[in-house]
Amino acid sequence: MNISIIGSGHVGLVTGACFAELGNKVVCVDNDEKKIRSLKRGKVPFYEPGLEELVRANYEQGRLSFTTSIREGIRDAEVVFICVGTPSLPSGEADLSAIEKVSREIGKNLNGYKVIVEKSTVPVKTGERVEKILKGTAKEGINFDVASNPEFLREGSAIKDFMHPDRVIIGVNSRKASSILLELYEPLNAPILITDIKSAELIKHASNAFLALKISFINAVANICDLAGADIKKVAKGIGLDKRIGESFLNAGIGYGGSCFPKDVSAFIHIAKELGYTFHLLEEVEKINRGQRVRVIEDLESFLGNLEGKTIGLLGLSFKPFTDDIRESPAIDLVNLLRERKAIIRAHDPVAIPNFSRIFPNLSYFEDPYKIAEGAHALVIVTDWPEYRYLNLKKLKNLMAYPLIVDGRNLLDPQRMKETGFYYSSIGRGKIR
Ligand code: UGA
Repeated sequence: MNISIIGSGHVGLVTGACFAELGNKVVCVDNDEKKIRSLKRGKVPFYEPGLEELVRANYEQGRLSFTTSIREGIRDAEVVFICVGTPSLPSGEADLSAIEKVSREIGKNLNGYKVIVEKSTVPVKTGERVEKILKGTAKEGINFDVASNPEFLREGSAIKDFMHPDRVIIGVNSRKASSILLELYEPLNAPILITDIKSAELIKHASNAFLALKISFINAVANICDLAGADIKKVAKGIGLDKRIGESFLNAGIGYGGSCFPKDVSAFIHIAKELGYTFHLLEEVEKINRGQRVRVIEDLESFLGNLEGKTIGLLGLSFKPFTDDIRESPAIDLVNLLRERKAIIRAHDPVAIPNFSRIFPNLSYFEDPYKIAEGAHALVIVTDWPEYRYLNLKKLKNLMAYPLIVDGRNLLDPQRMKETGFYYSSIGRGKIR
């Protein structure tokens, strides 16, 4: 099938490369000329395991091509996926200006029947807006259908998530669109749920909000564990063994970040309010999440007192491991909170230093985690990079001025920390003093 992808960011590029790998002819469009030039040279401008190889192979075999022109990109396409960004406005509302802009461009350049699919995460009823724009811009007599096909890709495992999804959601209002999209997804052999467009849009927001809720819930329980002297890892295991609850997304820690959960939770709260419902539950999810950053600082203060002039080393800057993405990363909040307290900050990350130093050019960055330990009063594990689990604790302890680790991801074993003579604090497993 001929497909066009508008917006070649994380979602667009993964979607385009994977559809090409499945044998379709895909044109990826982006208005960023530099990005398109680099993609034509086989360079993916962000880190996603396996994506560069997939893009190169499909480009070389002629199934994947790139252009900056929407007109050219959609000319032969039967299906056009809109994959542009929907960032947060200061109010928390989703900014749909990019969606509206490309919808107008698509409408003006429609040259025959196509299915126009929202893949970007959008508030419910955006499909109606897209349809209205297309109707207003397309030439008389040209037919089209709008559909919603939300993505459930995680950064770091996006290709696997695309190729082996738990489910594919297809929101349509016409049989023709539904049969075209069913044919496109058939090779994945995945469970497919056909819904109306508004339900599909809501499934996406509700899925991300529910996962964020699970994280805030377990973080709240972790805080109770600390007060009661219980162990959150055991509690989470015990809860998760109930199949109705499930074990995933019950890792307590410093709170969720990234380009999706924070933005989608606030956009969901906003659209709910616009529709007449105040989503207090999700407001609390956000509040708990913000609180987790602060509690890490309070943990530091409970050992070190005033943080002014104290050297604090941050282990991890990306919002989660296996990505260099720092959007809404807990590390950003920590840096701001530590700066307010006039602490001396050092930072380490295996891949995210270039991105982080664009926002904070004046921090001390280190490529070697042992270097940030030299003379430090505390280390904070911010990202659960597996390499932090295997740090040589004896070596670290000898390097530090004060042997304190605040483990924001519950990566280390408290018993081992005790044996090695560390002061140690984690989330929901008490403190070792
Ligand atoms: C998330 C969803 O998992 C995807 O299904 C969705 O498609 C995507 O958003 C999106 O809307 O595009 P992603 O943001 O890549 O994917 O990352 P996750 O692996 O879901 O992690 C999000 C945050 O939650 C990270 O900061 C992570 O550290 C945190 N987290 C996750 C926890 O604190 N505890 C957990 O148990 C799980």
